[in-house]
Amino acid sequence: MRKLLEKLPKAELHLHLRGAIPVEVFASLLNKYDVTAILEGNSYRTSGMFERYGNIRPFLSSRNWSVEEVSRLFQYENFDQFLATYHFTSYFIRDTSDLKKLITGVLEDLRAQNVVYAEITISVIEYIQQGIPLPVILTCLEQATDFPGIRVQWIVDLVRNIGHEAALKLLRQIIALDRRSVVGITLGGSEHLFPPAPFENVYAAARDHGLRLTVHAGEALGPESIWDALRVLKVERIGHGVRAIEDPDLVAYLVEHRIPLEICPTSNLCTGVFSSYEAHPLKALFDAGVPIAISTDDPTFFGTALVDEYMHVRDMGVSDSDILEILKNSFRHAFLPDEEIEKYVHRLLTIHTSLAPTVFGSIPVSQAPLSC
Ligand code: ADE
Ligand code: ZN
Repeated sequence: MRKLLEKLPKAELHLHLRGAIPVEVFASLLNKYDVTAILEGNSYRTSGMFERYGNIRPFLSSRNWSVEEVSRLFQYENFDQFLATYHFTSYFIRDTSDLKKLITGVLEDLRAQNVVYAEITISVIEYIQQGIPLPVILTCLEQATDFPGIRVQWIVDLVRNIGHEAALKLLRQIIALDRRSVVGITLGGSEHLFPPAPFENVYAAARDHGLRLTVHAGEALGPESIWDALRVLKVERIGHGVRAIEDPDLVAYLVEHRIPLEICPTSNLCTGVFSSYEAHPLKALFDAGVPIAISTDDPTFFGTALVDEYMHVRDMGVSDSDILEILKNSFRHAFLPDEEIEKYVHRLLTIHTSLAPTVFGSIPVSQAPLSC
């Protein structure tokens, strides 16, 4: 099954650009800059936020780090520690060449995994804060759409922690620049501190401009956050949404309205939403009829890759034919025109038909240990 999954064309709908940074790329950026100088006057640093966490602390002084040493940064026990680590890495993408290196590294990795279509989420605010102007960032995103062998569209994470007024201002600047490769918005960051409802105007403005809508909800907070995402923000998809399982009426609503959840199982374990794959509600949601797409969220930070996620889904008891359904869903719920979706689904099924009889069932189920 792993071999088959590796060969099949796949889509990634929930993948953060910096969350997918190849460790080698991050190691080279870490070694390029003087960490003390770039964190000078930084509020996280002065508040002791970075010092607090054992995985970040060693990297607060500069030296030449090996890739192996850098890989130890990506280990956490809870959501806040993950977010602090995620934030820490943002200080090392400081100019256009860093950003291009990041984008190229991520796209090469995806292409090598036979990901043929990716909606990549980018928190533009973090690169703006490092001094890269918004028009330059958007030009880099636009250029990435010409990358051979993979179709890319961008979702801007307005980052809920900046608050709804700043998010609206940022959205208006993005809209004014009118770049076609940006197809949608989301809100990442601390859902428990910045729940969805106050962002109503932001989502209304994005919708008016024809942008597609998703949001991180039901990850750090429970069903109420998902209800608000649906009723107040009027989103088309939910990022994570896994805590919908706590509310049967919400599960029924998702089924009836065909609202897909972008589920990232390993992310949910690494950020402490669930304690194990056995405790994860993916199969229960799927069996209830909720549309599900599988993604990696921040694969470098969670030590995973798309095929690993599908193998975990299989270990959760989802059958091989249902895994094919989920593979199809990732194309079906893409922010793409219907004709393009049809082509991708057709390509998936054709390749599946030609490969499945030879490799199906020949590889034992994976028991890969959790590496975050
Ligand atoms: N930003 C990157 N990954 C995230 C996640 N899993 N939740 C919220 N914000 C994020
Ligand atoms: Zn995410």
